[in-house]
Amino acid sequence: MTARSRLAPTATSASTKKPMRYFTHDNDASIAFVEHGSGPPVVLIHGFPFDHTMWQAQIDALGTHCRVVAPDLRGFGQSTLSESDAMDGVEMLRYAGDVLATLDQLRIEESAILCGFSMGGYILWQFVLRYPERVRAIALCDTRARADSAEARAGRLKMAEGVFQSGPGLVAEAMLPKLLSETTRANRPEIVTAVDKMIRQADPRAIAAAQRGMARRPDVRGELRKIGCPALVLGGADDALSPPAEMREMAAALPDARFVEIPDAGHMTTMENPAAVSDALRAFVKLL
Ligand code: MLT
Repeated sequence: MTARSRLAPTATSASTKKPMRYFTHDNDASIAFVEHGSGPPVVLIHGFPFDHTMWQAQIDALGTHCRVVAPDLRGFGQSTLSESDAMDGVEMLRYAGDVLATLDQLRIEESAILCGFSMGGYILWQFVLRYPERVRAIALCDTRARADSAEARAGRLKMAEGVFQSGPGLVAEAMLPKLLSETTRANRPEIVTAVDKMIRQADPRAIAAAQRGMARRPDVRGELRKIGCPALVLGGADDALSPPAEMREMAAALPDARFVEIPDAGHMTTMENPAAVSDALRAFVKLL
């Protein structure tokens, strides 16, 4: 796994207004990311099918005390992926390799605080199990440690096939009711629009690649006791995809974890209750 080209600032992130930087990784993907602030390094790994902008509030809030790095995973946002990635799927460990390459590009050799949201959490498990020496602490947001049921796996493979005909609009329609709490959907049209827009902008090839990769992801529940670094587990009180009971169980299985429930939020905590997520992350970082 090699990161070959030098970093080049070439554009500004439309939402975060931070300069995007790029490098070529493994000769087949251009990885884009934003970097903001200075202090202990914090890496924010986004969920599916989003991009770094789902962390917009946290990039600003943490950037006052930390060096925040927020990549677009391969194929999402301004990062690219190859045709074979779309067809074969991208394993969670491969995305973790892109995150590691981003740290290497920035010469961040000290251990970093890694935060993963949902699919970003699946990637974070692989990162911390494979590269523990690069990790100071972890934050797991609205994610799961268990693998998919057979039914969920079949649904992912169906979407991976179908998205090329239907486009990301159907993905948005299928996912929105599960991503946002009933209250958000009824009363906060601006959040509904922002999440819907992000999904509709996603590249169908990236959607297929990630769904195939997630369908094959391992169950890591048996490995949690090996993860000894400090951990914050946080989840929306009304998260239908990674419910609080499951998040609590995950926190209990980790040797050094605390659980924070985010009120007034479904799955998309970073956007539905950005201040509560930012406060929890900032308090966690301060304690380290
Ligand atoms: C996410 O938010 O990343 C997705 O809900 C993850 C998944 O599909 O399992």
